[in-house]
Amino acid sequence: MMRSRLLAGFLVSTLLYTSEGFTSNRVFGKITRNVLMSASQPVGGINVSDLRKDYSSKGLMENDINHNNPYELFSKWFDEACAANVLEPNAMCLSTCVNNKPSARYVLLKGHDERGFVWYTNYNSRKSKEIEENPNAAITFWWGDLERSIRIEGIVEKVSTDESDQYFQSRPRGSQIGAWSSNQSQIIENREKLEEQERNIIKKFEGLKTIPRPQHWGGFRLVPSRIEFWKGRSSRLHDRVVFIKTNNKWQLERLQP
Ligand SMILES: Cc1cc2nc3c(=O)[nH]c(=O)nc-3n(C[C@H](O)[C@H](O)[C@H](O)COP(=O)(O)O)c2cc1C
Repeated sequence: MMRSRLLAGFLVSTLLYTSEGFTSNRVFGKITRNVLMSASQPVGGINVSDLRKDYSSKGLMENDINHNNPYELFSKWFDEACAANVLEPNAMCLSTCVNNKPSARYVLLKGHDERGFVWYTNYNSRKSKEIEENPNAAITFWWGDLERSIRIEGIVEKVSTDESDQYFQSRPRGSQIGAWSSNQSQIIENREKLEEQERNIIKKFEGLKTIPRPQHWGGFRLVPSRIEFWKGRSSRLHDRVVFIKTNNKWQLERLQP
């Protein structure tokens, strides 16, 4: 019984590991292969509690950081994530909270500077309504290939209409049509209805060179009061360095992992 399980595990792992999907995933491909080849593994499934990676690359030390400016380190890490060809390096998990009930979803970072972190969305969506009710929010980045994560907390405000106009005009026409076509977060009968909405919008703007920005679509900026940088290290002794803003000044602390 045990021998046939081992053999099946080996065959499955070989098949998976040589397939396009797994070889393209540098981090989890290796972990999955180890797990599938372990004798305790049930055939045909992955025991999630066995997924484990020992982080080994260079750590995050206070001497290498400007203590008064978290944006410098953010820019460095973000640029390095882009250079490392991480898939969607600007994808970030945005968490909001109303009536003590948190909700989270991914959005794309579209700008960052010392004022904060910007993304664009539909102002009538669930996230936007939640932000209106409670502007406290958090965003989280995870760049697995670099063993890095960043957590940012703060208050969300709308960007200026000029900034939203400018960004909207920089988008491809298809995305501009998309912003008009979807009542984001609303229920719709089926996919056909959605495509019909899109066709109607395409017709509406036919022949028009510039599509105007919908009033219900624009940017938000999270103005941070806390930014944490996390770097995976060996044996779970990870590095955690947090910038906390008090009286308009950033202060650096190290947290236990
Ligand atoms: C990688 C990724 C990036 C996304 N970027 C955006 C974005 O920039 N803006 C947006 O409105 N939705 C984006 N979405 C879709 C959202 O995750 C979400 O489905 C949508 O905004 C509706 O969320 P809500 O109902 O909580 O408002 C993205 C999804 C993924 C997976």
